[in-house]
Amino acid sequence: MKTTSYRLDRFISKHSEFSLSDVRLLVAQKRIYVDGQAAISVQQKVTQFTQVQLDDQCLQNNQAIYILLNKPQGYVSATKDSQHPTVIDLIDHPRKASLHIAGRLDLNTTGVVLLSNDGAWTRKMSLPESHLAKTYEVTVAQPLNDDYVRAFQQGIYFAYEDITTQPAQLEILTDFTARLTLTEGKYHQVKRMFGSFRNEVLALHRSSVGHLRLGELMPGESRLLSPDEISFP
Ligand code: URA
Repeated sequence: MKTTSYRLDRFISKHSEFSLSDVRLLVAQKRIYVDGQAAISVQQKVTQFTQVQLDDQCLQNNQAIYILLNKPQGYVSATKDSQHPTVIDLIDHPRKASLHIAGRLDLNTTGVVLLSNDGAWTRKMSLPESHLAKTYEVTVAQPLNDDYVRAFQQGIYFAYEDITTQPAQLEILTDFTARLTLTEGKYHQVKRMFGSFRNEVLALHRSSVGHLRLGELMPGESRLLSPDEISFP
């Protein structure tokens, strides 16, 4: 998934009174700064998060934000909701209004939710083609057995979409608890997979997405991701 980028000359002509052809001279006169360095070419790439300065005027200064939240029960994975508090209500960041959610959790599911204002990143983190492993700790109403392990590995047929789920790894931890790793995220996927055995999911917690884990975060807490964590996978 590519981030949209523009040539520096196009960006400057769009955001100032200078024309496309003026930009070569501005670059030569070192009047344009890109991410704090004097621009060296009119062809330099500018994305939505590149900082661009012309003389003493800041033309763009959007900060990319990447957040990992430990979602508690009762919060909706949406930016607005008329009935329930949203995951955005839990975030303490001055630019939280710009955030999108990468991969939603149900109202009562807890655990890892990723948020960012970088649309290319959130798409990459949630697209099925990325095959990013998502791990869930599941508590169910009926005892588990090896039939579940085999069936989840083979794939469960979802009639509504007419698809079979991708092979999923189920590790049975106790009679009523298991760890399930999926590489996709169909609507209510975990509940529907156990539902195919008429086994109700009583509690669901996402403990990781790819290499991103909750660590020490308590329910409701969030933290900024480090540059290493943001790089994919
Ligand atoms: N699967 C579900 O059924 N619910 C979730 O919240 C996440 C995965």
